[in-house]
Amino acid sequence: MKAITVEPKKPDTARYEDFPEPDPRDGSILVEAVAVGVCGTDVEIVEGKYGWAPEGSTRLVLGHESLGRVIDPGFSSSFKKGDLVVGIVRRPDPVPCPACAVGEWDMCRNGQYTERGIKQIHGFMSERWRIEPEYAMKVDPSLGLLGVLLEPTTVIAKALEQVVFIGRRAFWEPRTLLVTGAGPIGLLAALAAKMFGLDVHVLDRMESGTKPDLVRALGATYHSGSVKDIGIVPDAIIECTGVGQVIADSIQAIGSSGTVCLTGVGHGGVITTDATATVAAAAVLKNNVIVGSVNANKRHWYKAGNLLARADRTWLSCLITRCEKPENFQQALQRKPDDIKVVIQFSEV
Ligand code: BGC
Repeated sequence: MKAITVEPKKPDTARYEDFPEPDPRDGSILVEAVAVGVCGTDVEIVEGKYGWAPEGSTRLVLGHESLGRVIDPGFSSSFKKGDLVVGIVRRPDPVPCPACAVGEWDMCRNGQYTERGIKQIHGFMSERWRIEPEYAMKVDPSLGLLGVLLEPTTVIAKALEQVVFIGRRAFWEPRTLLVTGAGPIGLLAALAAKMFGLDVHVLDRMESGTKPDLVRALGATYHSGSVKDIGIVPDAIIECTGVGQVIADSIQAIGSSGTVCLTGVGHGGVITTDATATVAAAAVLKNNVIVGSVNANKRHWYKAGNLLARADRTWLSCLITRCEKPENFQQALQRKPDDIKVVIQFSEV
């Protein structure tokens, strides 16, 4: 079969090449790939900045935002041939740490977790892949190709859960939520927060185009420019840019007792000792929480599946702005100004 592989930590080694059929040890369910979403993490891996190959191998099959169709359910009676499924990304560490021992692998304490297509287990950018029944999530068949949005939605299901848990440490009546960054994660955050009944504001650099239109179509407010100028005091901020200045401004802009949830992984931005003390003072004087959130456990996958199933299909379909063939994967990795989610499509839904 064909797969998109890379030699992690070595830039420009990605290839679309012949690759052995998936190992039965990867799971008893055999799946035919339909589509795989591309995200910033994939770009980082291809640029040689992140990623780990499985033990005993130099190359890693890329891809963690999957969608596939069951070819052979194996011994599992919960899946049948033709089911649309998505593979959970992370596996618990083998020790296991207390968090992984209770299924909260997203909160792994010792860093020995593994991740499909990212850390020591092959990903989903291959014509066929295998999955363990307990890590396969069925998607609502009416979602079709939109099922490929499940993985990024899980990231948001977890981030919002964090904000809600933290909010409940005191009397909390959230009304206004700001999302910084109108990429796929930011737009999915806006969708989820809207469904939660909040007054949602989204800030991005783009001044016109699909992003503002999609935000307004949700009934949310779009802002371009600086967080400092939005003219509202948010009860919570979901930060999806990873940009130092936006993070710093978000910490200043958050309301008293509010939470800034960081989901974006960025680079650079030198923080001086003074800036750190200023940030800390703002957090102390307003009882703020600045929390990082990564990955998702099965509870979040379940919640994300329900959220997508209830969402407007026309709105969701606007998030997928480009479908590329696997042999053109290099094009899928190039970001174009109007891109929201680019997917590599292996077969028809
Ligand atoms: C993925 C997460 C993963 C994280 C760090 C993200 O792109 O969505 O599942 O935990 O990268 O590797």
